[in-house]
Amino acid sequence: MNGPGRFITLEGGEGTGKSTLIAGLQDALAARGHEVVVTREPGGTPLAEAVRNLALHPPEGETWSPLAHALLMNTSREDHLRNLIRPALARGAWVICDRFADSTRAYQSIDGVSLAQLMSIEAMVVGDTRPDLTLILDAAPDALAERRRQRNVSDVFEQKEAAFHERVRAAFLEIAENEPHRCAVIDALGSPETVLGAALATIDDRMEAS
Ligand SMILES: Nc1ncnc2c1ncn2[C@@H]1O[C@H](COP(=O)(O)OP(=O)(O)O)[C@@H](O)[C@H]1O
Ligand SMILES: [Mg+2]
Repeated sequence: MNGPGRFITLEGGEGTGKSTLIAGLQDALAARGHEVVVTREPGGTPLAEAVRNLALHPPEGETWSPLAHALLMNTSREDHLRNLIRPALARGAWVICDRFADSTRAYQSIDGVSLAQLMSIEAMVVGDTRPDLTLILDAAPDALAERRRQRNVSDVFEQKEAAFHERVRAAFLEIAENEPHRCAVIDALGSPETVLGAALATIDDRMEAS
C-alpha cells in the first residue's frame, strides 16, 4: 500500500479505452471526496514529458536501441515518481496513471530486452512505489482496429502491425496472470459505462475503504 493515498495504473494496448476510462474514474472518485491526480507515462512532469518526446519521436532517420528505449522510459519514470506520484500519494491523493511500468515490461520485452533486465531496472526505479491496483483493459485486437484507425495518432508504437497488437495483449495477460493480487483484467469491449462500472466494482472489491 502507498498509504495514505492510492496508486492505480491503467494498462492495455492502443485503443483499449484507457483514456476514456480514466476520465470516468476521475469524476467518480472525485465525487467520493478524494483528491484525484491523473497522469500518464511516459511523461507526467516537464522533464518526463521531454524524455517522452525524445523516446517516441527521435530525430529523423534515427532509432533508439530497445535497451536505450527501456532506459528512457525508466528515466522519465524516475522523475515522474519523485516529483509527482510520491508527493501526491504522501498527501493522500488517489493517483491514476495512464500506463506505467507494465507497459515497459510488455513493449520493451517484445522489442527484445530480456524480462530479467527490465525487472531489474524497474525494481531500481520504482522501488516500493508499486501500484495498489492495475486495471488491464483487454480485447481482441481486431475488435479494436476500428477504434485505432479513428484516432489518427502516429508514434513509433502505432506504426507496427496487427500481429504486434496480439503480442502486446498476450504480454499484459501474462503480467495479470503472474500478479493476480495487483492486477485485474477488464473486458474493454463493453460500453464506456459498463467498463467504468466494472472498474469501480474492482476498486471497491480490492482496495481498503478510506
Ligand atoms: N468502451 C468503449 N466503447 C466504445 N468506444 C470506446 C470505448 N472506450 C473508448 N472508446 C473510443 O475508442 C477510442 C480509443 O479510446 P481511448 O480511451 O483513447 O483508448 P486508449 O487511451 O487506451 O488508447 C476513442 O475514440 C474512444 O472514444
Ligand atoms: Mg490514451
